[in-house]
Amino acid sequence: MTDHTPVPYAGPTRVLSGVQPSGALHLGNYLGALVKFAKLQHEMDTFIFVADLHAITVWQDPALLAQQTREIAAAYLAAGLDPKKATIFPQSAVREHADLAWIFQCVARLGWLDRMTQFKEKSGKHKERSSVGLYTYPVLQAADILIYKATHVPVGEDQKQHLELTRDIAAKFNHDFAAPAFFPQPDPLIQGPGARVMSLRDGSAKMSKSDPSDYSRINLTDTADDIAAKVRKARTDPEPLPETLEELATRAEADNLVGIFAALSGRTKAEVLAEYAGKGFGTFKPALADLAVETLTPVGERMRGLLSDPTEIDRILKAGAERASEVAAPTLAEVRKLVGFWGA
Ligand code: TYM
Repeated sequence: MTDHTPVPYAGPTRVLSGVQPSGALHLGNYLGALVKFAKLQHEMDTFIFVADLHAITVWQDPALLAQQTREIAAAYLAAGLDPKKATIFPQSAVREHADLAWIFQCVARLGWLDRMTQFKEKSGKHKERSSVGLYTYPVLQAADILIYKATHVPVGEDQKQHLELTRDIAAKFNHDFAAPAFFPQPDPLIQGPGARVMSLRDGSAKMSKSDPSDYSRINLTDTADDIAAKVRKARTDPEPLPETLEELATRAEADNLVGIFAALSGRTKAEVLAEYAGKGFGTFKPALADLAVETLTPVGERMRGLLSDPTEIDRILKAGAERASEVAAPTLAEVRKLVGFWGA
């Protein structure tokens, strides 16, 4: 979008990502995000937050929001995030996100936001009735990332455009305020077969919290029976699995199930095909159901266990918010100076 030449960023590497507390988590969130968070915490300084500021861009019941926030935190822990390694916190508890978002709203251009496809999808036919926050949502996302000068952002494929916007905002800020290497150009980490998990009912639609059919998704809290039934009923075609990825790519539903199998077992789609080519769904689906049950039910159980002790979750979130503020506050102080605010 812009043509500012980036100057190499010399700061430390840091991972940042988040999930909205706006409904039950599903297999797409797990494979596209949570599994990657748990892996990356061993490789880099990692910040993972619950995106409650983003959640209120659409109506959230105030009586439920704090509990939904704890549920996401429990899912993080159940998926293997360790609060001793990763900083886990609620977004709204670190005020610097919102402060920086305002400044970025004055950096980002309307034309850039007008191109965001997720706003178009989420606002639907009633754009004028959407909250202003839903429109400026990706600007807050840029602030989430850049307030920690994060260099790596693990997300599913649907967030790619928001990451491109983040890079544009970083470049324009650095240029406008003559601080060429102040913010990094964060890299999205999207690779792998779990980056775009599709609906089990329709291979052309993303698996999503908002799909009216519960059979379209596997929830992290589903029972073993639910998971098995959903895999059994997943839409497929009558052909056996093909030999090559090229043939698989022409069959959306089959491609999705093979991708899920690959992501759950830590293999590539080609490796899964090497085992199942020529076999029909009568063989493949039960194997996938077993794998999904084996991988996901312990996560659901751990979540339930953790949620039975909300004080411990709250303690982790509070400590995480304090640690996050220690990194965010100096960035905001520097930004205030660069912008030229009184008292900065
Ligand atoms: P959210 O809450 O919609 O989704 C959380 C994460 O799950 C990924 N995801 C998927 N991955 C694969 N297949 C799917 N079907 C699927 N559905 C969802 C999403 O890509 C995401 O990684 N805007 C973000 C939250 C956010 C954020 C940030 C992320 C706010 N600020 C800063 C990274 C950095 C969102 O709405 O995620």
